[in-house]
Amino acid sequence: MPSSTTALQRLGALLETPAAAGDGYLDLLGTANQAGPPTGLTQRLMRTTLLPLVYEQYWRPALGRALKGPFGPSMAGEIRLATKLLELQPGYTVLDVACGTGRFTRAFGSAVSPDGLAIGLDGARGMLAKAVAEGGPDTVAHLRADAVRLPLKTSTVDGVCCFAALHMFAEPETALDSFARVLKPGGRIVLLTSARRGWQPARIAESVGGLLSGQKMFDRGEIAASLQARGFTKITERYAGVTQIVAGRLG
Ligand SMILES: C[S@@+](CC[C@H](N)C(=O)[O-])C[C@H]1O[C@@H](n2cnc3c(N)ncnc32)[C@H](O)[C@@H]1O
Repeated sequence: MPSSTTALQRLGALLETPAAAGDGYLDLLGTANQAGPPTGLTQRLMRTTLLPLVYEQYWRPALGRALKGPFGPSMAGEIRLATKLLELQPGYTVLDVACGTGRFTRAFGSAVSPDGLAIGLDGARGMLAKAVAEGGPDTVAHLRADAVRLPLKTSTVDGVCCFAALHMFAEPETALDSFARVLKPGGRIVLLTSARRGWQPARIAESVGGLLSGQKMFDRGEIAASLQARGFTKITERYAGVTQIVAGRLG
């Protein structure tokens, strides 16, 4: 039996309900084109056939740089930071929520090898098709499901990563509840999302930009407070441009 099948089977055992076999991934969304209610332009773009093809190499690095500013981390730097903040070790189970084409998931798969599991979850078929086509370590398995209401059993994962996506969910607070639910006590979380600046003219422009693109602009400190309210400790925040990277430990 190929080891990728084994990773999918191990993923299947963590789900609350059985999932259908998709094209190299498990699928809980069936014929639905997207997970959850539509939130706007950016989320729609993610479901196109073209974007997944250029996402990892061009779109994400260019847009990320524009949003993080010249002093924010590079893509490789983001991956290193996420891996470090999650304190990943061999044998861990880590969930990459809204994984897109899976660049982070593959790195996490290496960090938890040889016997851990890195789950890449996304709602877009095209993103997951590209993630599967990219290959990666045997520890990686993909799931098509809603990031807001995670279908995993309670207290099953050691780490949750959600980069560049929380601000495009219809119900980000419900998503955070869900992230906390699936984490084991002591598990780690790391999030990269939007961060509106305090200066009023910039705030207004950023809020309008967010509305037009269908993305929520969080305030600085807002995500840290949301994590604290859910029982996270050892919370750290890093700001670059209009982004924040917030990490913490459950309990
Ligand atoms: C900008 S990409 C981020 C990909 C990757 N995490 C990164 O940092 O490059 C956002 C992803 O969120 C996914 N997404 C948006 N809303 C979702 C939802 N409700 N459930 C699952 N995936 C969702 C999109 O399909 C897209 O792949």
